[in-house]
Amino acid sequence: MESNEKIFYITTPIYYVNDIPHIGHAYTTIACDAISRYKRMKGYDVHFLTGTDEHGQKIQAAAEAKKITPQELVDQIHVNFKNLWQVLNISNDDFIRTTDERHVRTVQKIFRQLIDQGDIYKGTYSGYYCVPDETYVPESSMGPNKTCPDCGRPLTIMEEESYFFRASKYVPELIAYYEKNLRAILPEIRYNEIMSFLKSGVRDQSVSRTTLKWGIPVPGDEKHVIYVWFDALINYMTAVGYSDDPETFAKYWSHVRHMVGKDIIRFHCVTWQLMLLALGVVLPVEVIAHGWWTYNGEKMSKSKGNVVNPFEMVQEYGLDPFRYFLLREVPFGNDGDFSETALVGRINSDLANDLGNLLNRTLQMINNYRSGIVPACENSASNLSELAEKIISKVDDCMNNYCFDEALKSIWELIGRANKFIDETMPWKLAKDASSESQAKLNQVLLNLYESLRISALLLAPFIPDTSKRIWQQLGLDGEPVKMFIDKFEWGSASGAKINKAEVLFPRIDLKEWQKSQDAKLAQKKSEANIMSVMSENTQENHEIDIEEFHRVEMRVAKIIKVEEIKRSKKLYKLEVDLGYETRTVCSGIKAFFTPEELEGKHVILVTNLKPAKLCGIESNGMILAATVKTEGNTEQLTLITPEDKSLPLGSLVS
Ligand code: ME8
Ligand code: MG
Repeated sequence: MESNEKIFYITTPIYYVNDIPHIGHAYTTIACDAISRYKRMKGYDVHFLTGTDEHGQKIQAAAEAKKITPQELVDQIHVNFKNLWQVLNISNDDFIRTTDERHVRTVQKIFRQLIDQGDIYKGTYSGYYCVPDETYVPESSMGPNKTCPDCGRPLTIMEEESYFFRASKYVPELIAYYEKNLRAILPEIRYNEIMSFLKSGVRDQSVSRTTLKWGIPVPGDEKHVIYVWFDALINYMTAVGYSDDPETFAKYWSHVRHMVGKDIIRFHCVTWQLMLLALGVVLPVEVIAHGWWTYNGEKMSKSKGNVVNPFEMVQEYGLDPFRYFLLREVPFGNDGDFSETALVGRINSDLANDLGNLLNRTLQMINNYRSGIVPACENSASNLSELAEKIISKVDDCMNNYCFDEALKSIWELIGRANKFIDETMPWKLAKDASSESQAKLNQVLLNLYESLRISALLLAPFIPDTSKRIWQQLGLDGEPVKMFIDKFEWGSASGAKINKAEVLFPRIDLKEWQKSQDAKLAQKKSEANIMSVMSENTQENHEIDIEEFHRVEMRVAKIIKVEEIKRSKKLYKLEVDLGYETRTVCSGIKAFFTPEELEGKHVILVTNLKPAKLCGIESNGMILAATVKTEGNTEQLTLITPEDKSLPLGSLVS
C-alpha cells in the first residue's frame, strides 16, 4: 500500500474524557507529536489527529451523579485534554470529539452500509460485562470470582438484543494480510500476539446496546445505541472526511498509522481491521503499540492516588525536560517507570551538563576569540562532520521505527563527541598561540563546534521544540528549526553568523535542596490525607461517591461455619465462612464482642472483593459488615449486619 508520496497521517487513541489526563496519555501524544514534527521537517504533508472518546456507560453514570446531561458533562471535561495538549506544545492538526456532528454522521453511515451488505445482523447477546471498562469478558478469561481480568472489578451479567458485526467472515483475509505485511503491527511481540489471537478464532461481535442511552443511535432502530468501541474507532476515518470529503480521504487514508498503548491493540489490530475489510477500505500502514508507564514501580491508579499529573510535572521541571524524559527513558514498546529522581538525574546530566555546557562553552569561546562571529575556514570537514552525517541517517532510521530513545541517544553521541573535541583540541591553548597555523586550527575547531550545535538543534526540534528554538536563537540563526528541513544543511555554511548572548538552557538542580523540597511535599501530602480521613470520619463530611463506585464493592450473604482463636491477637478471630459456592478464611476484629458459640451459624454480609490481607500471619479474604453503637456508659457495642430472611441462599448478592 505504501506509495512514494510524502504523506503521513498519524493518530493517537481518542482518550476517555472521564479520566484525568495523566502521563500515560501525555506519552502517547508526545510520541505522536515528535514523529509528526520530524516528518514535517523531512518534507512530509503531515496530518496529526488526537481527540476524545465521549460516549458510553461511564459518562452517562457520571453525568447522572452530577445531575447534568452527558453532553454538558463532556463539553466541560474534554477541555482538560485540549488544555494539556496546549501546555505540552502538541502540534496536532485536528482534535476530534465523538460527539462531533461529523462523527455521528459518519458512524451512522457506516453502520447502515454494513447492515445493507449483510455484515451487521440482529441477534441476542448475553455475557459477562465490565461496566467501567465497557467491555464483555469471555468466560475463559474472567478473573477469580467473576472479575474483570484487566481491572479486577466484578463483572455484571448482561443479556440484550443486539446487532452483531460479522467479524468472523473476514478473519482469514486478515490473517493473510498480516502474513504479507510484517510491519503492520509494531513491535514484533505485538504482531505475534495478535496473530495467535486471530488464529485461535474470532466470534462475531456485538456492536449495539439497549442498556444505555448515551451513544450514537442505530439508524432506523433507535432503541439501540452503537457500542462505544465501534463508534470510537471510526473517528480515524471521520477526521479525514470519509463521509463527506472523498478527496481528503483518498489523500490521507492510505498513509494512516495508529499509535496506541498495548492495552488496546486487540481493538485496533483485530476489530478495527475487520471493520475496514468489511468496508472495503485499505488497512492502516502500521499500528504502533507502546508499553505501559508505572510510577515509582507501581501501577498508577486513582484509588492509590499515585497518578502522575503532567500539568504538575511541567510546572515543576519545565516542559522540555518532561518531554525529553518520556521519550528518552524507555526503549520503544517496553514498559517504563516514571520517577522524579530519574527525571532530575536526566536534567542534570543530559540536559544541563552535556547539552547546556556544550552550548555555553562554544558560545563563550566564539565570543572571546572571534568577537562573536562564526569564523570561516578552508576545510570544515572533521570527524565531527562525519559523525553528524552518520547520525542524521541513524536518527532517520530510528524515527521510521519509532525508536525515540535510540534517536535521542544518537543525538547525544554527537553532543558527547563535541564536548570531547573541546577537551582534545584545547582551543584555549590555540588561542594563546598567534601563529597562523594555530589560528587557522582554532577557526576550524570553533566552526565545527558551532555546526555540531546547529545540527543538534535541528535534530532535537521534534523532541524538545522550545529548547531547539532557544539554541537556534543563541546561535544567531534566523527562523525556527521546526520549520526547517532536516535534510537541507551544509556543514560549514554557517560561517559569518553573529551569535547572540549565551544563556543557561537548563539550570542544574541542587540535589540536596531538591530532596528537601520533595520530603516537605510528601509530608504535606500525608498530613492532608490525614486531615481528610479524620474529617470524613468525625464530621461524616459529605464525601460523595457515584453509584458506579459503590457497585465496585461486592457484598454477599455468607454463613460463619467455624470460629478459631488467634492466640497472638486480642481483637481477631479467624473465621471460616461459607458463600455457597466456596468457603473462605476471614480475620475479623470482633473477638471483644462475641464468643465463638455466638458466632457459629450466623448469617452475615461479607465484602468479597477486598484485596487479600495478611493479619497475624493469616491471609484474610473479605470483611464482615457490622455496625458500632455507643451504649449509655459510653462503651462500644458491635452488631453484625445479618439478612432478615435466613432462607436467602448463601452467596446472594447485596446491592
Ligand atoms: O482506551 N502508560 O481511552 P483511554 C502508557 N477511549 N500509556 C497509557 C497509560 C499508561 N499507564 N495509561 C493510558 C481508551 N495510556 C479508548 C481509546 S481509540 C479508538 C479509543 C494511554 O483514555 C495509552 O495510549 O483509556 C492507551 O492506549 C490510552 O492512553 C488509553 O486511553
Ligand atoms: Mg483505559
